[in-house]
Amino acid sequence: MATPRVMFVNHTSAIAGAELVLLDVVRRWQGATAFLFEDGPLDQAMQRTGLAVVRSRFGRGLSAVKRDASLWRAAPLAGRLAGVAVEIARTARRHDVVYANSQKAFVLAALAGAVARRPLVWHLHDIIDGSHFGSAQRRLQVTLANRFAARVVVPSAPAAAAFTAAGGRADLVEIVPNGVAIVRDPRPPAAIRVALGLPDGPLVGVFSRLAPWKGQHVLLDALAGLPGVGAIVVGDALFGEQDYAAALHAQAAALGLAERVRFLGHRADVPLLMQAVDVMVHPSVAPEPFGRTLVEAMLAGTPVIATDAGAAAEILDHGAAGTLVPPADAAALAAAIARTLAAPDGLAAQRARAAARARALYGVEAMQEAVAAVIARVAAGAAR
Ligand code: UDP
Ligand code: GLC
Repeated sequence: MATPRVMFVNHTSAIAGAELVLLDVVRRWQGATAFLFEDGPLDQAMQRTGLAVVRSRFGRGLSAVKRDASLWRAAPLAGRLAGVAVEIARTARRHDVVYANSQKAFVLAALAGAVARRPLVWHLHDIIDGSHFGSAQRRLQVTLANRFAARVVVPSAPAAAAFTAAGGRADLVEIVPNGVAIVRDPRPPAAIRVALGLPDGPLVGVFSRLAPWKGQHVLLDALAGLPGVGAIVVGDALFGEQDYAAALHAQAAALGLAERVRFLGHRADVPLLMQAVDVMVHPSVAPEPFGRTLVEAMLAGTPVIATDAGAAAEILDHGAAGTLVPPADAAALAAAIARTLAAPDGLAAQRARAAARARALYGVEAMQEAVAAVIARVAAGAAR
């Protein structure tokens, strides 16, 4: 069968982990179409990959609808949502397969796909549980998935388990771990620190967008019990969490950490910053669907401390390739940071094991091939 014509759909044009995954996936699909709800950084990055970009006339701002909002709160937007669904259906007719990369994209693509009668793949980057979504949203997602999705691609076993626990059909699920690649800088950490203007001394880093469930506040609490330890907080509020960002600054000031904690905002040089710190902390307080930054730090050769919720245990080989701590436990996190900073050989064996594991299990090419295989099977099924 000829290469299927694929239409990739994403609701936000901010670039978080799910969008970075999509950008790697589509590199295999020159000439395919990206349907985006709004313009922005993803739109521009998509055009650079050689995809034809179709931008919705009605989708702007829909990404600001909170993922846990009740359906009633979204009701005034019904007209615009319907407008986007009609646009997706119209564009889908020129394609063989529709590939939705976010839950909002999926919901509208499911409604549109029902009209356009094109098979639909949902790349689900979320853990569908009560800590991430309201119950009406969960019901809507699994109902639509069970009825309209040809396949549901998830990045980890916990994401698959959450989908089925919410009522999703197990036979739809395909686990495709995210593929991650970084370019390692040959300079030693001290030289990188000088080049980046980072301080001497023990330094930890957190590299997630600012959002309450990413748990940066737990790291700040932990630092209060670690005199002399500095931190860089890298990342910005990408999806309207400005209140949380402000609260973090206030918390750092209230804890007397203003001198020790630097908020660096969103950065394009995360792997380099990771190489510069003594330990990377991933403090999510809700289950992490995957966590690209975990793998990036493993590849960077930096010790990782992550909360044991969601995919972190799987990625860190249940503690053999990094340290796991309970979520939302500042004292446990502080103790783990102190132990890591005090380790005489910088945890050399654990870091080597982590880097090898990341290279073996989380390659970009393997992910691209696995997704291409899913799309090919779905297209072949539809053509029968
Ligand atoms: N990232 C970045 N700049 C920042 C913060 C994060 O480029 O300032 C990148 C980070 O390197 C990673 C991605 O954003 O590749 C976040 O993906 P992850 O899966 O860790 O979390 P998500 O934000 O998707 O929940
Ligand atoms: C989501 C998840 C993150 C995952 C990323 C890519 O944004 O929060 O854990 O790594 O998607 O799948």
